This record gives sequence, structure tokens and C-alpha cells, in this order.
Amino acid sequence: MTTLPFPLADEPGDDAREAARKLFAGEVDFLKGVVGMQHLPPDDRVEVCFAGRSNVGKSSLINALTGRKGLARASNTPGRTQEINFFTLGAERYLVDLPGYGFANAPVAVVGKWQALLKQYLSGRANLRRAFVLIDHRHGVKAVDEEIMTLLDKSAVTFQVVVTKADKVKETERDKILNQIREKLSKHPAAYPEIVVTSSEKGWGLPTLRSIIAGLP
Ligand code: GTP
Ligand code: MG
Repeated sequence: MTTLPFPLADEPGDDAREAARKLFAGEVDFLKGVVGMQHLPPDDRVEVCFAGRSNVGKSSLINALTGRKGLARASNTPGRTQEINFFTLGAERYLVDLPGYGFANAPVAVVGKWQALLKQYLSGRANLRRAFVLIDHRHGVKAVDEEIMTLLDKSAVTFQVVVTKADKVKETERDKILNQIREKLSKHPAAYPEIVVTSSEKGWGLPTLRSIIAGLP
């Protein structure tokens, strides 16, 4: 069997790192929370979104990237983010915090509604330049993640795996999970061929992810 390598993304050079640092240290604002496709803001700028299972660390990652602790709400309660939350990054980019999938501590009807919205958004947003699919380093890729990846394949939305909570995994265990992720990614044509490993808690991987976002044309 041949598996694609899916190497870790290179760390940015000094110039790219500094440009990205400046972008994220500049103007970042909450724009709006959206509960229906008709409420999406105009698709007039580069957009990236953060998708992943409930509790994987989407909101924490946005807070860590922007250095604003309370920007995206983060909590211990899975299913906390229930709307599609738009943030403006400078004048030319949107960062989008999505509701988690896979489990939500909420009534079934409500879950059904926001999962449907999530799928509509992921498959139908013209300016969505890249979807970051977050994978908990302790857990690897689960069946629900593969479902989302398949949806992104079908919609031809490039997605990149961002591994979260790396600080929670022993160094000796890390490669095993990374290889499980690589094996799963090799089946998805829309997968971007590099992985980013992060810890919002420790700040690992943040300059790399910032410069990926800043560098998207
Ligand atoms: P939903 O909105 O419910 O889908 O969750 P989410 O993916 O936005 O997760 P959130 O950022 O709310 O984080 C969930 C929990 O994980 C919180 O208790 C965070 O403090 C914790 N967490 C997030 N990132 C990290 C990390 O890098 N390291 C550690 N140790 N904990 C983290
Ligand atoms: Mg959240």
C-alpha cells in the first residue's frame, strides 16, 4: 500500500512569520453569529473556517491565534458554539468558528438544525478558501470526521488537518496518532498535503498556522 506522506507544515521564514504576526495582532473583531444560510455576510473576502468534533478546541484555537482570550467563546461543555461565528481579520479575511459535530449536549432537534446548517455552509460557501479540520491529538480521526472530509471532497473544498491539544499527548505516542491521521487523509482528494500540529495552551504551531492563513491568496 502506498500512503501519501502528509508531512508537518514547515515553520514560516522570518518575513512570513512577522507579516502573519502583524496581521493577527491587528484588528480582529466579532462580526456576527449566523443561524441560517440567508444571514451569511457577503462573500467578498478570503474565508477560512475551523471545523471539528465538539470540544476539539476550535474556539480556543481562534482565541490563541488572535491572542484574544474571550473572542470566540470556549468552554468545557461540548456543543457550546451553536452558531456560525464570523470574525473579521484585518480588512480582507474572515475567520469562521463553527459549531462542533459528532456530539452535542443539547436537544436532538436543535442539534439536527445546526448540523444541517454546518453541512450547508461547508458545501456551499463560494469564498471558503480553506477549511481547517481539527483533530484531537489524543483521539485521531473518527468516523464523523471522515463524514465531514467526504462532504468536503464532494464540494471540492480544500481542507487541512490541524491537530489540537498536542500538549495532552506523550511525545512517544504522537507519531502513532499522526500516522493514523495520514492513513485516513490518503483517501481524501480534497486533503491539503500538510498537517499542522498545535497546542492552544502552549502556543505550539500558532506561527505556522497564522502564516498559512495570512498567505492564502
Ligand atoms: P464546541 O464549540 O463545543 O464544538 O467546542 P470547541 O471545539 O470550540 O472547543 P473549545 O475551544 O471550547 O475547547 C474545549 C475544551 O478544550 C476547553 O476546556 C479548552 O480549554 C480545552 N482546550 C482547547 N485547546 C486546548 C489545548 O491546546 N490544550 C489543552 N490542554 N486544552 C485545550
Ligand atoms: Mg466552540
